[in-house]
Amino acid sequence: MSHIIVIVGAQWGDEGKGKIVDLLAERFDIVARYQGGHNAGHSVQVGEKSYVLHLLPSGIVHPRKTCVLGNGMVIDPQAFREEVTRLRAQGIEITPHRVLVSSRAHLILPYHRVLDHTSEERLGNERVGTTLRGIGPAYEDKAGRRGIRAADALDPAVLRARIERNLEDANRIIVAYGRQALDAERVFQETWAAVQDLAPFVADTTEYLNRAARTGRSILLEGAQATLLDVDHGTYPFVTSSSTTAGGACIGSGLAPHRITGVLGIVRTYTTRVGEGPFPTEMLGEETEIGNLIRERGREYGASTGRPRRCGWFDAFATRYAAEINGFSSIALTKLDVLDALEEIKVCVGYKLDGRALDSFPAVAQELRRVEPVYATLPGWRRSTLGVTQWEELPEKARRYVEFLEREIGVPIGLISTGPERSQTIIHQHSAIAAWLRD
Ligand code: IMP
Repeated sequence: MSHIIVIVGAQWGDEGKGKIVDLLAERFDIVARYQGGHNAGHSVQVGEKSYVLHLLPSGIVHPRKTCVLGNGMVIDPQAFREEVTRLRAQGIEITPHRVLVSSRAHLILPYHRVLDHTSEERLGNERVGTTLRGIGPAYEDKAGRRGIRAADALDPAVLRARIERNLEDANRIIVAYGRQALDAERVFQETWAAVQDLAPFVADTTEYLNRAARTGRSILLEGAQATLLDVDHGTYPFVTSSSTTAGGACIGSGLAPHRITGVLGIVRTYTTRVGEGPFPTEMLGEETEIGNLIRERGREYGASTGRPRRCGWFDAFATRYAAEINGFSSIALTKLDVLDALEEIKVCVGYKLDGRALDSFPAVAQELRRVEPVYATLPGWRRSTLGVTQWEELPEKARRYVEFLEREIGVPIGLISTGPERSQTIIHQHSAIAAWLRD
């Protein structure tokens, strides 16, 4: 059977999607990204080698897999060129036969990066803490019908005219914030040079993916960022500017909803967040030390920006919300081994606001800042689970922790990751994930 599976992070990102996509990619023909840009950072460990990916899907480290950068993405042609150069130097084959960039994907231009800075400056204390890669401003241009798509940029006359027009508006804001106006000709020359390198990869990926689906090829649709950063369903306005959830996979790839055969949620045994915004289970005050321990054990520093991630307890209330929105068929639980050192582990099972238990996830960031998490406390196992590959070999208390999370989320956990390498994984043989890997 050919599967078309969407992989989505259930929390605020960095759940360890890279490893899981890499693991599944072995059995799939095509790996496609459907949103976001080089704000993402996936680390994939293969034996001694470690690859950091920002734009290219994690399937790229597998020879013979086709990788697609879908129409829902925003692509900085200079970042694309840098990533291709870096990966080629690491021995990865990157050719237009195996990497296709949607002609409908929008481009990030140098002024988008500057606008990302001015927008954050303007927000002051209310800033989002973006990656400053120009993601938001590029999506603003897309929604404002001013964007420049990969296909548009292939014609130098169109590219120059659009840059001139868009830069007139952009420069007004840039100058108002005391920065130097950008020169249209220079922006054009820089962009045009990078577009030359992008051009051979540009293709009609909507047609490509639909033909692949019709002819029974299997496709992994790889989400970036995660559910709580979704522009509609996340903790608005502290979100990214794209549809990160499973519904976004159809929009950002051009595949119809009925084509999707499963949705895999990536859930980490604890929670992190980079950037600003509410985070109910964050380890603060006397729990700061535990947060620091988790950050070090879990290497919780941004792969894109190097920023230290804020760490917190597992939030089952938020994850149930993510499971509902995405319709997870199965869950991959990552980084179990990071918790090995803890004596006790807390899990947030509900939220209270002004003393009342909430039955839905708050829409307003100010409310989310005020919620009181309701915790259950479970005993830690204080034994190494690093590299364990069999469920029965996990300490009993670790198994109880995993089963507790499964009950709280209400979705079967089919895979447990016990270390960064492909082999450091437990797969339940009767799970949907096992079937995706087998059939
Ligand atoms: P932007 O996507 O750069 O506009 O940033 C918006 C928010 O999303 C910020 O809080 C970022 O820290 C967060 N964000 C963007 N990309 C990632 C990611 O790959 N992992 C985790 N957070 C991210």
